[in-house]
Amino acid sequence: MDKNEVIKKAKEHFEALLEEQLDRVERMKVDQDWIDYSQQRPLVIGVVGGDGIGPYISGQARRVLERLLSKEIEDRDVEIRTIEGLTIENRAKLMETLPDDIFEQIKSCHLILKGPLTTPKKGDPWPNLESANVAMRRELDLFANVRPVKVPDQGIDWIFFRENTEGAYILGSKGLNVTDDLAFDFKVITNPGAERIVRLAFEYAKNNGIDKVTAVTKANVIKTTDGKFLEMARAVAQDYPGIELDEWFIDIMAAKLVDPKRRTQFKVVVLPNLYGDIITDEAAEFQGGVGTAGSANIGKRYAMFEAIHGSAPRMVEEGRAEYADPSSMMRAVVMLLRHVGFEVQARRLEMALDVCGQFEKKVVLTGRSDGATGAQLADYVMETLEDPELEAKWKGYR
Ligand code: IPM
Ligand code: MG
Repeated sequence: MDKNEVIKKAKEHFEALLEEQLDRVERMKVDQDWIDYSQQRPLVIGVVGGDGIGPYISGQARRVLERLLSKEIEDRDVEIRTIEGLTIENRAKLMETLPDDIFEQIKSCHLILKGPLTTPKKGDPWPNLESANVAMRRELDLFANVRPVKVPDQGIDWIFFRENTEGAYILGSKGLNVTDDLAFDFKVITNPGAERIVRLAFEYAKNNGIDKVTAVTKANVIKTTDGKFLEMARAVAQDYPGIELDEWFIDIMAAKLVDPKRRTQFKVVVLPNLYGDIITDEAAEFQGGVGTAGSANIGKRYAMFEAIHGSAPRMVEEGRAEYADPSSMMRAVVMLLRHVGFEVQARRLEMALDVCGQFEKKVVLTGRSDGATGAQLADYVMETLEDPELEAKWKGYR
């Protein structure tokens, strides 16, 4: 192909992306009210098992959820619905990231508890489909990925607000091989997209008496998109006079999370999609690894709760799936309960997870047969939950 021809094709590709993104910006500008889940009865919670270790760990998290909401389920105020078929085998067979009928079932629920889904990459035995996680977050407009990490005995109490629908992810499957030698990807930041995540972080700080929000970018180098994100953070900060905006670059932030003196000063952190992906895995490591960290994907209409890690197919291949740690999914259940107003249950589960996973540790998982199974951990958590002395016990450890 001659050069003019190459450029023409690239322009056409870019033009289609521009159309799509300009329309999305307009859609975001139409203000939508937050759905009030406390008014939804029955409240429908869909459970998507996921791939690899997903069905094992989400199964254990579901047991805990059902135990905590047993009364509400019995009274039909809450319905837990199984959503089948969102597996990599099925997606590959249909050559669809999010098969329509399954997506319709998902949308018929208010909330989703989801096990990890395999994200194919080049060279995998699977077709290189778009990540179903990324597609769900975008299609349900789950713009905030909220990821708390706490290590009470080290003074770590972080909550990350990761932008979840744009940044480096939104066109992650729509890059362009301009020629065999030249590849392009695109990163997108919009005013409404940046504003809504930054505002959520500031609102959280305000409602929880926290006087600082840390914004993380690489605005010194990625000047246009990260520049816009930072500019928006500064603009939103003007509306919160008692809350300081603390600006960091992603590289030094990654370093300072390891610095015991500095890291305890971070509280609420807001950041674009890819940086949030990377930093939250690092952060979770302090708490005991990604297997211990849960995540809430929040939008105005839907919300989805999941682990922060992947489907660990190797554990399944090696016959170790039942030893996978369901703590991440149980932490996701805490966030789900809290999101819809079951604060008492959320609090009890959170305390039980701290006691079982961080303080008492009577049941220890190693990911192998020399450790406990996920089911044994869930049993231990449920026993702890029901201990009338739980609150006192939890306080005693802190
Ligand atoms: C996460 C995961 C996903 C992401 C993958 C599975 C697409 O790493 O939830 O952090 O990159 O967002
Ligand atoms: Mg990740």
